[in-house]
Formats: sequence, C-alpha cells, structure tokens
Amino acid sequence: MAEPKKLFIKTYGCQMNVYDSSRMAEAMSADGYVLTEDQAEADMVLLNTCHIREKAAEKLYSDLGRLKPMKAEKPDLKIAVAGCVAQAEGEEIVNRMPLVDLVVGPQSYHKLPAMARGEGPRVLTEFPAEDKFDHLPKRATRRAPTAFLTVQEGCDKFCAFCVVPYTRGAEVSRPVERILAEARDLVERGVREITLLGQNVNGWHGAGADGHEWHFGRLIRAIAEIDGLDRIRYTTSHPNDMTDDLIEAHGDEPKLMPYLHLPVQSGSDRVLKAMNRKHTAAEYLRLIERIRAARPDIMLTSDFIAGFPGETDQDHRDTLKLIEDVGYGTAFSFKYSPRPGTPAAGRECVPDDVADARLQEMQALLTRQQKAAQESMVGRRVGVLFEKTGRIEGQMVGKSDYLHSVFVEAPDARIGDLIEVEITHSAANSLAGKLL
Ligand code: SAH
Ligand code: SF4
Ligand code: F3S
Repeated sequence: MAEPKKLFIKTYGCQMNVYDSSRMAEAMSADGYVLTEDQAEADMVLLNTCHIREKAAEKLYSDLGRLKPMKAEKPDLKIAVAGCVAQAEGEEIVNRMPLVDLVVGPQSYHKLPAMARGEGPRVLTEFPAEDKFDHLPKRATRRAPTAFLTVQEGCDKFCAFCVVPYTRGAEVSRPVERILAEARDLVERGVREITLLGQNVNGWHGAGADGHEWHFGRLIRAIAEIDGLDRIRYTTSHPNDMTDDLIEAHGDEPKLMPYLHLPVQSGSDRVLKAMNRKHTAAEYLRLIERIRAARPDIMLTSDFIAGFPGETDQDHRDTLKLIEDVGYGTAFSFKYSPRPGTPAAGRECVPDDVADARLQEMQALLTRQQKAAQESMVGRRVGVLFEKTGRIEGQMVGKSDYLHSVFVEAPDARIGDLIEVEITHSAANSLAGKLL
C-alpha cells in the first residue's frame, strides 16, 4: 500500500479558522492525507490565514519566505493558502510568492481536495451559492471533549475598521437540522462541550422544526436537549443582536455557561459612531445590566481598539471608564490597524506613540481586572471539564464554567470527566482546585 501523504496545517486568527482547519483536514483525509505536526515531513503545507490586522496578514509572507528552502529541496511539496488573506488578496499571493500552488477562500473549502489533485483552478475565491459544509465529508473519529461548531458565517455590520464583511461575505445562517445533526454526531463521539461559532453568532436565525422562525436563544435550547452534552458556549456576539430570548436562556438554561464575550470596542459615543457600531456606551451598559439581572454571576469579556482615527484623550478616558464600570473577566485589546478597503482606512491616524500609550494603559487596567476576577474564584465550587493530563503525575487540566484553566490533582479522573472542584489558588493565567 502507498504511504499516506502528510498534511501540515498552520492556523492563524479566530476560532472559525480553527474549525475550518479541522474540516479541511477531514476533507483531505478522504484523499489519503493524514495530519502531521512536523512541517519538515509534510507533502502539503496549508496555511489558514487571518487578515484582521496588518501584523496577522504579514505573518503569511514571513512564513512563506521560510518555506522557500523546503520547496527548493522538495519540488513536489504543495503549498496552499486558505482563509481570509486568501480571500482578500487572491491572485496577488501567487504573484508575490510563486511558490504558492493553491489559494482558496473561506467559502470554497469543499473544492480544496480537487484543487490539490490538480483538477481545479489555482486560485478560487468565489462566494458560491451552495453551502460549503454540505460538501465536506462527515467527521469520523472519536473527538476531544470540547468542539467548535460553526452555525453562522459572515457579517453585514460593516464596522468601519473591519475586513470580515469583505473576507467572509454576507451573513449566512446554517439550517437548524444540519446544526442539530452535527451536534448530535459530535456528542456521540465523546464531545461534552460545544462552542457555537459565528462572526455574529447571536445574529443566527432560521426556520425551526416547529414551523416558526427561530432566533439564537431557541437554537441553544434545542441543542441543550441533546443527552450527553453538558455545556454550551458561543462566540462572537454583537451587542445589537442580544435578543430577549438569548438573555432569558442565560437565566434558565443550565447547560449554557455563565460566560459571554460581548465586544464593545470603545466607551466613547463619538468613536462608537465613527466605528459604525450602531449603539451608544449607555445602551451597552444597560444591556449588561439586563444580562446580569438574568445571570448575576456571568463572566463578561470584550475586545477593545486603541487609537481609532479621531480618538481623543477624552474618548480614551471614556473607554477606561466603561471598563471600570463593567468589570471584565478578561478582554482583548488591539492597536488600531488600517485595513485596505475598509471605510476607516483613509482617515487620519492617531500618532503611533499615543496609540501605544493608550493600549498599554488599557491593558494594565484589563490585567488588573482579570487578576481580580480570578482571585474572586478562590474558595468557590465550580464544574471543571477535564481536557488533558497535567505535567505532574496524577494532575488533570480543564476549564471551569467561567472558562478559566484549572489544575486539579485527580489521579482517578479521565479526560472528558466533568467534576465539581473547589478553587484553592489563583496563579498568573490559571487556577488550582481540589476535588471535594
Ligand atoms: N465579530 C466580532 C469581531 C471579529 S474581529 C465582533 O463584532 O466583535 C475580532 C476583534 O479584532 C474585533 O472585535 C476588534 O476588536 C479587532 N479588530 C478588528 N479589526 C481591527 C483593526 N482594523 N484594527 C485593530 N483591531 C481590529
Ligand atoms: Fe467586524 Fe463589526 Fe462584523 Fe464584528 S460586527 S465582524 S467587528 S464588521
Ligand atoms: Fe481573521 Fe478571518 Fe477570523 S480575518 S479573525 S480569520 S474571520
């Protein structure tokens, strides 16, 4: 029998890319490719890229540069570029880097095996009408206890800074039955926690089995009915799509975890308007109040951008004030990066050193909040889903309901066990707990 061909995948960017990479691996396995962790032995290298900030996009080119000697030594090596840079730059990638054999955009992954066989175009970045997920082969093997499941793709929000509406296209929701079938299949193969994914996941909607139009909260309840599934999470949501039924689900659906990533980007109404976020800081705070009324212990996280064009010192202080007012469990903050083709790209930038200083100030505050949120867990009892063994003999590592990493001495436990533990200690980026 012929040796299986080896596929090395590097994934950049968000969880949707992580999900897509695993689906592409499955699609390629039908063509005899097995995954390898070792790039040097690969017959095909697939770079699944991110275009969100300049630094993310430039990583592709430095990685391609590093692949040159390997390709020179091994001319049969196939190099493929997928993801959001593929979508945004298309042909330009092969022009700039002729060593690239294939370029495939995020909506065309089902064509990747044919392209790799040489039966397709070299560059494919269409937005076909069909659902790529329909054409990807079903997963087959046993799975880790946690999994991603994409339910929605694309974005119609057009925030002034963001490339996603251009790289991922218009908002599309996958149909209820397909999502439920995939969720059931995951659970049958050992998954106990599913994270529902979408660029605007809470904007998901679709025709329900009962003949009614369902919103995202209803979908969560339907998934929660699957026996053997213990936890549901979702990301990323937009504040304007936090519907009443979703907020209610946070109050009374026990499988929905008390954790919500709800990016606000800025605490200044001027900047929010310039970003085209379509809500004010006060509206966001009022929304947080309603969510906390439904689920008082919910952990909130957000994304922030420092130095958006036109941002003044006062705007920046308004953002710090909003961060203080909300009290986040953790948050991501980024320096504004002008992206080609976006409305904000032509606007005058805040001086670099000013943006850097603001970013640092924001990150210092967010780090303090993260530390406080972790320390507040000490003495509490939380569920931990064990995902792997720790470095110390008998130690297990898993995630708490609030998504904190927790280390527990549990010699008899197995990966996939969900066990209540008492948190005993808070370290830099994790917690320690003991069995009860
Ligand atoms: N759909 C999600 C965000 C996707 S992008 C949402 O609406 O919140 C993830 C994060 O990257 C964004 O929340 C934003 O904070 C950041 N981001 C996006 N474009 C950016 C840019 N041009 N410069 C800096 N940060 C950016
Ligand atoms: Fe980008 Fe805004 Fe859409 Fe989020 S909502 S993906 S930030 S355009
Ligand atoms: Fe990046 Fe595309 Fe995700 S730009 S953040 S990989 S949707």
